[in-house]
Amino acid sequence: MSEIVYLNGEFFPLAEAKVSVLDRGFVFGDGVYEVIPVYSRRAFRLDEHLQRLQNSLNSVRIDNPHDASTWTEIVNTIIARNETDDQYLYLHVTRGVAKRDHAFPNPPVTPTVFVMSYPLSTPLPTLLQKGVSAITAVDNRWLRCDIKAISLLPNVLLRQAAADAGCAETIMIRDNEFMTEGAASNIFVVKNGTLLAPPKNNLMLPGITYDVVLELAEAHGIPHQIRKILKEELLTADELLMTSSTKEVLPITLLDGQPVGNGRPGPMFEKLYQLYQTFKRDVMRQHKA
Ligand code: PDD
Repeated sequence: MSEIVYLNGEFFPLAEAKVSVLDRGFVFGDGVYEVIPVYSRRAFRLDEHLQRLQNSLNSVRIDNPHDASTWTEIVNTIIARNETDDQYLYLHVTRGVAKRDHAFPNPPVTPTVFVMSYPLSTPLPTLLQKGVSAITAVDNRWLRCDIKAISLLPNVLLRQAAADAGCAETIMIRDNEFMTEGAASNIFVVKNGTLLAPPKNNLMLPGITYDVVLELAEAHGIPHQIRKILKEELLTADELLMTSSTKEVLPITLLDGQPVGNGRPGPMFEKLYQLYQTFKRDVMRQHKA
């Protein structure tokens, strides 16, 4: 079975899906996207992902080409027509194809809509037992990091800086003062048994996994605070966690070459990881009933 993708109303094998070189996604990075994990062929938190997509589209003034039921139909068809039970979906909407001009096409053109699927491989037990390494860097992105924009050059360069250092992630610091997020993840800090999360604002992506982790903390009486996290607090954390749709919850055990806490995944990670796995299973059971 070849990978099947969705492009502008049709389903194609990946190799046959083509867009114009004048697509504004290609020319300007003028578009937005979503990444949605799929467990046992069910899209996880689909409503929340579609709502975030709507927020991103509103922010960049692209009309949503589909209502929620059409998106759900497309998503479910892609899930059914691809091979593995666990997948992750990439949804991508650009402003469409037009002669190159920075201002929006006038009259407006039809947005380009693309959906593809990859097999989802969540972090292996060996990685979870050891944790991953990260580096810190200046957050040199724009002031609308809440938009899930496809123009990701700063994030690409920041993640590559981590890769060059043999690390998994770059944690960004704004104004040499406070932590925002990872190049492609949200970051939590643990200090004296309290889970600290940076507030959702224009300087970070409102992660769906971030929400799940905070809901679990709330439901299970884990002390937590949502507030600005200072650079010093990041650098002296007892534990660091990174979260994303594809990585779920991962412990960061080495930061800028220094051990985080005792250099091993800590009790907050163990607790949240177990809760996250149980929650995932329960949600799937609920859907099956
Ligand atoms: N990225 N912050 C940034 C900058 C991200 O790119 C991501 C996810 C997150 C976590 O969001 P969520 O929990 O909703 O996945 C935070 C995806 C996985 C990506 O670009 O591939």
